[in-house]
Amino acid sequence: MEDEELYERLIAAANASFGSHPRRRALHAKGSWARANFTATPAAAALSRAHPFQGAPIETLVRFSNASGDPDAHDAEREGRGIAVKLRWDGGETDILATTSPTFLTRTPEEFLELMELRRPDPATGEPDMERLGAFFGEHPEALPAIQAVLMKEPLASFATVTYFSPHAFGFVDAAERTTWARYRLVPSAGEQRIADDEAKARGTDYLHADLAERLRAGSVVFELRLQLAADGDPLEDPTAVWPADRELVVAGRLEIGELLTDPEGGEHIEVFDPTRVDDGIELSADPILQARPKAYSVSAYKRLA
Ligand code: HEM
Repeated sequence: MEDEELYERLIAAANASFGSHPRRRALHAKGSWARANFTATPAAAALSRAHPFQGAPIETLVRFSNASGDPDAHDAEREGRGIAVKLRWDGGETDILATTSPTFLTRTPEEFLELMELRRPDPATGEPDMERLGAFFGEHPEALPAIQAVLMKEPLASFATVTYFSPHAFGFVDAAERTTWARYRLVPSAGEQRIADDEAKARGTDYLHADLAERLRAGSVVFELRLQLAADGDPLEDPTAVWPADRELVVAGRLEIGELLTDPEGGEHIEVFDPTRVDDGIELSADPILQARPKAYSVSAYKRLA
């Protein structure tokens, strides 16, 4: 399949499942925006020469989202939630994207397309073909940790009480060109908290977004950025791979979210968060999902501008 066709089909498959909504993201359509400050630790500066890790406070744009492409999705739904962080300074940007699942569903964009096309509801029944979907998971057991991380967990109590993970490894390069491979995670200072499905449903369609607004009226919401260091032999290019829980975690910084923002997008202006947009001192792996993301996101972004 030609590259262009693959990315057009990925967005078309998202639209077929969730509807096509003018100006909205094809996935992660429902979001809340906030302003934050990021301050790196000396341990981050020791690992990477990238500007945002040198310790000076960096102004940051944050967007919390529901993974669905439906802008009216109920916040109680058992699906992923995302955080997108744009570290922006005079002369550069670095984006960090993470979700509530430690791993991704597939190893390649082609397999992700297959899955998205299989989960599309059949117009006759309104349901996906469960038999074919079951066969896909039978052939792809690597998808199961990601499915379990979403479906087997109760709904979030708050966007501020869950850990967000990046399933990709990035290389953190220091001044002497030494590279340390690691995965990001954002750990909430408020601790982890989930609630029962019934309670989440009763809290209302937008309860997570309302909770975030309320917390930010009362004070700030803080996450610790940690780097889970790869050990020899950990797969660096496979976002479905679970790394052993005992891998070293380095505290790399503090993200202090201070204020809710009204949606900064409108007219000719949109924001695009792209995990391959990184400063010198952060290296991309050849992970096919990581490499595919900017191409899929730009198809979605052009449609948002159309
Ligand atoms: C090939 C695999 C993937 C595809 C096709 C895909 C597709 C998309 C699309 C179309 C958007 C909306 C982009 C826009 O309009 O700006 C999006 C947003 C997002 N994706 Fe992915 N995605 C993939 C993998 C991942 C992975 C592995 C993660 C895990 C960190 C992730 C996390 C997010 C987040 C957090 C957002 C919201 C960004 C925002 O708030 O603007 N995605 N994705």
